[in-house]
Amino acid sequence: MSPADLAAAFRARFGAAPRLFQAPGRINIIGEHTDYCGGFVLPAAIDRWCRVAAAPNGRATLRVASATLGEQAELDLAAMARRGDWTDYVAGVAATLLRAGVPVAGADLLIESDVPMGAGVSSSAALEVAVTLALLALAGRSADGRQVALWAQAAENDFVGVPCGIMDQFASANGVAGGAVMLDCRSLEATPAHLPEGATFLLVNSMAERRLASGEYRARREDCEAAAAVLGVASLRDVGAADLPAALARLDGGPARRCRHVVSENARVLAAMKAMAMGDLPGLGRLMDQSHQSLSEDMEVSLPALDSLARIARATPGVHGARMMGGGFGGCVIALVDQDRADAAMAAIQAAYGEAIGRVPDAFLCRTVGGAAEVRP
Ligand code: GLA
Repeated sequence: MSPADLAAAFRARFGAAPRLFQAPGRINIIGEHTDYCGGFVLPAAIDRWCRVAAAPNGRATLRVASATLGEQAELDLAAMARRGDWTDYVAGVAATLLRAGVPVAGADLLIESDVPMGAGVSSSAALEVAVTLALLALAGRSADGRQVALWAQAAENDFVGVPCGIMDQFASANGVAGGAVMLDCRSLEATPAHLPEGATFLLVNSMAERRLASGEYRARREDCEAAAAVLGVASLRDVGAADLPAALARLDGGPARRCRHVVSENARVLAAMKAMAMGDLPGLGRLMDQSHQSLSEDMEVSLPALDSLARIARATPGVHGARMMGGGFGGCVIALVDQDRADAAMAAIQAAYGEAIGRVPDAFLCRTVGGAAEVRP
């Protein structure tokens, strides 16, 4: 739906002229399961958007409607409670902003999104960030992209109850058109990175049901915290590559493997920045392959379906490297592919993986975009 169509749909439903806000989904080139350890990530915002049309309604409630799902609900600003559905992201943002002293007042919101859901491209972060911008603007306030990301993450952590890191919300709020952003998740210092010339990123959905995702994610995070506690550091970010052998000697089992993943993955993000700066596509591709292996063997967040999809992608002409993306247990594989062979590679991977799973997987090529903003209807 275009911004103009969304504004028209808002007028038809609520009888007022809205302001419009949009926030993108994201890919992550490399740096997985490092954000909640204070480590490095290298995400980019992509041209899939969650849009929110919003106007004050003079009530003490948020009337929220999803054009995507065809659902509407009314949320009481004085008694925000979890309902166990998509409206929790909206309520969570309102509750977080109210707690931060933002005078959130009654409003109508119509939401529409083409960020694929359940594919690991952060449809929920896009929703949180778009709603944060909308409620802030209606309250006559503004904030920088860093603060917007922190509020959106707090909504997810404290209200929705998912202990995610900062990567998704930060990428959605602070994307750079035509590039990626390396984020130091401890200092929140962001360094823009140019995408390599002549190559693009392809996403192929494993179509695997993400059954284990939330419980296992929490368990991995707890393993990382347990490892940091044994080592006497604030987070695994404080363990450098040179300290790894000594650290591993003091850890066992899950926490040891998680530590090896986080330390090696942080080093891979820094190496990926160098490879991108030098236009070294094979080098960047190799780092992505190594990231997958580490996520599969040490972080233990892959699935046979993701391993097989990544293997198929790597064997496809034009592909420099491929890995599972996001929290794991489903979602997409991201592949670095030569621009001029991208369409053929996508079709070949869809055919080969489709044969293995008995249906054609969703796939798309990404264009990277700037972060969340208000837009004209
Ligand atoms: C999910 C979380 C992020 C990050 C990734 C793994 O996408 O929302 O914060 O931890 O998993 O890198």
